[in-house]
Amino acid sequence: MIEGGNVGLSVDLAPNNPHHLKLANPVIIASGTFGYDGYGRGITPEMDLGLLGAVIPKTVTRHPREGNPEPRWYPPSYREALEDGESIFLNSIGLTNPGIEAALTTLAPEWSRQDATMILSLSAESVSEFGEMTAMTQGVSGFQAIELNLSCPNIENGAHFSHSAALTAGAVAAVRANTGLPVLAKLAPNVPDVSEIALAAVGAGADALTISNTLPAMQINIESRQPVLGAVTGGLSGHGLRPVALALVYRAAQVVDVPIIGVGGIFNASHALEYFLAGATAVQVGSANLADLWSPFRILDELKVYLGEAGVSDIGDLVGAVRT
Ligand SMILES: Cc1cc2nc3c(=O)[nH]c(=O)nc-3n(C[C@H](O)[C@H](O)[C@H](O)COP(=O)(O)O)c2cc1C
Repeated sequence: MIEGGNVGLSVDLAPNNPHHLKLANPVIIASGTFGYDGYGRGITPEMDLGLLGAVIPKTVTRHPREGNPEPRWYPPSYREALEDGESIFLNSIGLTNPGIEAALTTLAPEWSRQDATMILSLSAESVSEFGEMTAMTQGVSGFQAIELNLSCPNIENGAHFSHSAALTAGAVAAVRANTGLPVLAKLAPNVPDVSEIALAAVGAGADALTISNTLPAMQINIESRQPVLGAVTGGLSGHGLRPVALALVYRAAQVVDVPIIGVGGIFNASHALEYFLAGATAVQVGSANLADLWSPFRILDELKVYLGEAGVSDIGDLVGAVRT
């Protein structure tokens, strides 16, 4: 890794929370893309996760989920697709996960052993289930914050929370009532007015907003006349999502005063810088990990080089600095 020199890279994603969420730098691994399975498969010991800002393992639900029928992503090899100049990437995993009990008893102790900031991602079927799951996390160590996946397009009703200001507020409030840890609300990109949802989340006690999840999408093989995904539709991530999520970050940053974490199509430091300028305090790297697990480390290095060369003394100086 490249030394940061005199550049200030640390960020606090929960400045209003007594626990705070202070990260050494603003580069985070996005949920579902931590290794090949979302829980770190493929990560090697040389990958010192403590060098990154934080890691968000795949979302867990109240009960285990098998996930959606295969194929679950398209193209099958994202690395090769990128090399061919293909920018579309669809997935429909369907929140395959072992359930919260197994996550808290088996995975969280492993996370405790990582010298890294870990963020637990939760998804629930109802407002009360969000409260119940959060109560289950009390007294469990291994993570320093909770991200609420209010926006998964790949399960039935998965995005219904973040499509409604009332449900968003209800879910965040139910979680807030059951934990003192910093709470990040992860929003959907396909809403008429992201400002309304963002304000609802913050009003109910979210310490930060993650923008955004994937965008509902579909592709059809015209030879077979079949959808490329087993679940017919899925979520668009990667390059195609970046301008969409960037605009949402910009809009939300106009109305909320909590940190925003930009996510969508970040493959290099230039992409990350666009998000900082639009108003993000930190960024998450998702699909780029599926092409190369070293991507977040590389992006962090590139960021240090850029900031040093541009004479920017603190990453915070760039946040919201877009000239409109
Ligand atoms: C294969 C795959 C699995 C994902 N699983 C989750 C998940 O479990 N929970 C979640 O909140 N987001 C999940 N996401 C969404 C990402 O965290 C991220 O919000 C989205 O992919 C946009 O970022 P990107 O363009 O950098 O991939 C998943 C994305 C992909 C590609």
